[in-house]
Amino acid sequence: MNVLIIGGSRFLGLEVARQLIARGDSVTVANRGQTQGDLPEGVSRLTVDISQAGALETALEGKTFDAAIHMIAMTGDRARVVIEALEGKIGRYLQCGSVGIYAPLSRVPADETHPTHPRDVGPDGHFVGFTDKQASDEEAFRLGEAQGVPVTILRPSAIIGAGDVPLDLWGARSPACFQRIIDGEVLSLPNDGRALIQFVHVADMAASFVLALDRPEVTGGFNITSEYAVTLTYYAQLLGEAVGRRPRIEYVPMMELIDRYAESGKVNERGLRFLCEHMCFTIEKARRELGYEPQWSPEAAVADSVNWMLEQGLIVRR
Ligand SMILES: NC(=O)c1ccc[n+]([C@@H]2O[C@H](COP(=O)([O-])OP(=O)(O)OC[C@H]3O[C@@H](n4cnc5c(N)ncnc54)[C@H](OP(=O)(O)O)[C@@H]3O)[C@@H](O)[C@H]2O)c1
Repeated sequence: MNVLIIGGSRFLGLEVARQLIARGDSVTVANRGQTQGDLPEGVSRLTVDISQAGALETALEGKTFDAAIHMIAMTGDRARVVIEALEGKIGRYLQCGSVGIYAPLSRVPADETHPTHPRDVGPDGHFVGFTDKQASDEEAFRLGEAQGVPVTILRPSAIIGAGDVPLDLWGARSPACFQRIIDGEVLSLPNDGRALIQFVHVADMAASFVLALDRPEVTGGFNITSEYAVTLTYYAQLLGEAVGRRPRIEYVPMMELIDRYAESGKVNERGLRFLCEHMCFTIEKARRELGYEPQWSPEAAVADSVNWMLEQGLIVRR
């Protein structure tokens, strides 16, 4: 199979490229060339900035692909420019979405029929949803139908595993939060620490794209995650186990945490609000229609992330 990946030089996109190359597919990645990913041998590279009008059309002149994967469709516009540039050049279109589009959840575990729009605010009126991602899903389905191209959207929960700093306990991706556990410093968890978070290992997430590529008859949106969600307290305990330290946890109301750390920039307010929403999904549809089966437990996935941060020197044992 001849596959184009928009993005593709880091974390999830890179892992998809690796899995496709490993099984003998042809892979082309299209990106600006700014992120130095360790691309496997055999990957072709197109240097293009998709935010520049007409740039992707020019880069794709004379090229066709069995399928394209848009890894960085962060807004409706970003989906549109890519799909329009791909018109007549691909047999199938896959896009990376996000389960964030369902937040705030009204039932758990949520499946693909959970409402998405316009439920983008929490009880206090603050934004917690992912309306831009929702717009990119809608744009993909709309344009795919207009062009007669089958569209499949895979929606990860929080992606974890070697290759990126995982979501921390303050809604950001800062190694400093994890370092606190190693250093024996108190770790403030929002509210009562019982909010649910569901991780998907990057290798499982990438495998779902490969499965979807092999099933051209399967279209629509799929939630992709691990077997079960975990509480924030359990996540902190897993992090502690991985570094060999018992975390010193205190519980702080979310608003107090935001106020306490707002100026230091340690807390990402939007991210923290999102983290305090329960995120818990069923993968039954992906199991049934894609044959998806997660290989990584949340426990093993957290350990993999911690080992990677240690190897990279992002956190250090002292
Ligand atoms: N991480 C999570 O927990 C999580 C959860 C849910 C959903 N998601 C979704 O997962 C996807 C993220 O994919 P990812 O891990 O592969 O990485 P990513 O960090 O979002 O992607 C960056 C890639 O896009 C390229 N890129 C960035 N701007 C570009 C531009 N203007 N033109 C062309 N290329 C550009 C980068 O290369 P250059 O810098 O060289 O251009 C790189 O290859 C997103 O769709 C996100 O919404 C992530």
